[in-house]
Amino acid sequence: EQQVNVGLLGFGTVGSGVVRIIEAHQEQLLHQVGCPVQVKKILVKDFEKKRDVKVDPSILTNCPEDIIDNPEIDVVIEVIGGIDETKKYILTALKNKKHVVTANKDLMALHGGELLAAATENGCDLFYEASVGGGIPLIRSLVEGLSSDRITKMMGIINGTTNYILTKMSKEKASYEDVLKEAQKLGFAEADPTADVEGLDSARKMVILSTLGFSMKIHLDDVTVEGISKVGLDDIEYAKQFGYTIKLIGIAQRDNGRVEISVQPTLLPHAHPLASVNDEFNAVYVYGEAVGETMFYGPGAGQLPTATAIVSDLIAVVRNMRLGVNGKSVILPQFDRQLKEKDE
Ligand code: HSE
Repeated sequence: EQQVNVGLLGFGTVGSGVVRIIEAHQEQLLHQVGCPVQVKKILVKDFEKKRDVKVDPSILTNCPEDIIDNPEIDVVIEVIGGIDETKKYILTALKNKKHVVTANKDLMALHGGELLAAATENGCDLFYEASVGGGIPLIRSLVEGLSSDRITKMMGIINGTTNYILTKMSKEKASYEDVLKEAQKLGFAEADPTADVEGLDSARKMVILSTLGFSMKIHLDDVTVEGISKVGLDDIEYAKQFGYTIKLIGIAQRDNGRVEISVQPTLLPHAHPLASVNDEFNAVYVYGEAVGETMFYGPGAGQLPTATAIVSDLIAVVRNMRLGVNGKSVILPQFDRQLKEKDE
């Protein structure tokens, strides 16, 4: 069987995880897709950087064209992050008929519609399971598992870094600054952790979830956002005494065609299931008119959970290649959004 060649844009925490999983699960990959899958090229900034996974140095490049314009590459996995430059890389890769798997929620929240349309035009897949909820197969559940239902509300914890910080502050009375440093060391936080702590990362994920769940064109500006940087140890202790846990909660709901989306620190009674979602774990409730209440739980950040979602997308791409149906599964949003007035 013909081998499928992968080009990796980025070799940081998540990129290294992708290489580790592809290497360690070769036999399973072969079983899943029926042909070998190999990482052929990796875009890096720094050739000398110490990494926790070893690769043949000849596959490293600092030139994106070696991947996005390389006729040998079938699938591009984007894990460099960033918006404008990365968008150009993805569009070029798609134009060159390469399928793309990305973990980039910033990009998908802002330009997902345009990128998905470009993918479809070129007969390519563009999958982004890892962009929300780390290792939880949440996007696939909305797009496939619950596709027969009408989603009315989604609510949960969708940022691992802030949940880790709030958990440690609450359980160990550790200071915000110390725990943030720990979260960065563990590879949960974004390159610029402001996006995590100010709620922007969660807001972008809510855009992705509500676009899919409600089939509406949602904009980042539609989300009311407040992060956790103003939550102090005092607030956490005070809430605890009254029987509450503080969590950063994203909520998206629709009501008669109008949507309301927010991200904010929220007081939850200790007995609420989301109150016991700790550390970097994420959990999202999805309510459907027919199914009722469902809950998705799992590691929301970190190297191997995120890489798992990416490699599962890669498997989906390769299966589609074998069936000749790439680029056929995108369903673009059906409705224009109407926002709910805040004081209605
Ligand atoms: N910085 C993100 C988080 C990574 O902490 O949830 C996963 O998207």
